Amino acid sequence: MSTLKPPEPPYPIGVVAALAHAKDPSIAPKPTLLTREFSLDDRVGIVSGGNRGLGLEAAMALLEAGARAVYCFDLPQEPGDEWKAVKDYIAKMDLGNGKQGGRLEYVSADVTDQKGMWEKAEKIGDKEGRVDVCVAAAGILKNHTDCLEYPAEQFKQVLDINTHGVLFTAQAAGRQMSRFGLPGSIVMIASMSGSITNRDHAWVSYNTSKSAVLQMARSMACELGVKGIRVNTISPGHIYTSMTAAYLDTQPELLAKWSSMNPLGRIGRPDEMRGVVTWLASDASTFCTGSDILVSGGHHAW
Ligand SMILES: NC(=O)c1ccc[n+]([C@@H]2O[C@H](COP(=O)([O-])OP(=O)(O)OC[C@H]3O[C@@H](n4cnc5c(N)ncnc54)[C@H](O)[C@@H]3O)[C@@H](O)[C@H]2O)c1
Repeated sequence: MSTLKPPEPPYPIGVVAALAHAKDPSIAPKPTLLTREFSLDDRVGIVSGGNRGLGLEAAMALLEAGARAVYCFDLPQEPGDEWKAVKDYIAKMDLGNGKQGGRLEYVSADVTDQKGMWEKAEKIGDKEGRVDVCVAAAGILKNHTDCLEYPAEQFKQVLDINTHGVLFTAQAAGRQMSRFGLPGSIVMIASMSGSITNRDHAWVSYNTSKSAVLQMARSMACELGVKGIRVNTISPGHIYTSMTAAYLDTQPELLAKWSSMNPLGRIGRPDEMRGVVTWLASDASTFCTGSDILVSGGHHAW
């Protein structure tokens, strides 16, 4: 039988902490779950698609959990008003124990530009001396297009952003994690559409691109585990963002339809990604890699 044991925790955690106290009552009982395991104190993050939607929500969550700086990569030259409001709000936030909210930074970048992504992340590494977290959230969804007529250029464009772009983002951050020899967490925003097909929606390019992301994460997780870099996916169900508003605001009957397709009977809000993003980014999930976390209101369960 193997005698390989897991490494000791970095500080007494959970039952080990209780047993240490039982042996030596002078060690005061202290909660660690929210203050240490879930804390992103001083970490540095990169979030693609961070100008709005799920990317911006993720970036804000990382900062609320204590990150020093989160760099949002997105297409516009300048960030939008929502992004600016979040930056201002976080900068004014009191995180407790005299700590102020960290920096929300903006980088104009196209995730399909591999070299550009690597260089931009390298500059962040030069400046911050570390990169710990990556959330690859940039993505696009096209209008319904018949799979037998699907135009090559449009199919390539969707894969270029949703699949290649996720790879280039993960590489950009992962190269910095590797450079500094720190454990890191890469979180790719896939979709339930990578595992199921949305009924009555002709989205073959999107579904294909997201399925590829699920396998990309498993594959990268297996290569990067030895470096202590974890790679996981989050697969959201229907969430109300600009992406889905393009459908919901023009076809209002879809709201009732999509809502009826999960046991919770409603679509989700972007803020409902905060907990899962923080958990995967943080040391609260140090034994989780190569996993897909479905956050779909149970859509996949039916
Ligand atoms: N909203 C949902 O219901 C839902 C469900 C499952 C998965 N997702 C996924 O979540 C992610 C975020 O989507 P969202 O709903 O917040 O949509 P969104 O349209 O609000 O945000 C997507 C962001 O990606 C950016 N982006 C697009 N192409 C880019 C490029 N080439 N380079 C850099 N940035 C680029 C956009 O500018 C935008 O800011 C996407 O990957 C999407 O597929 C969304």
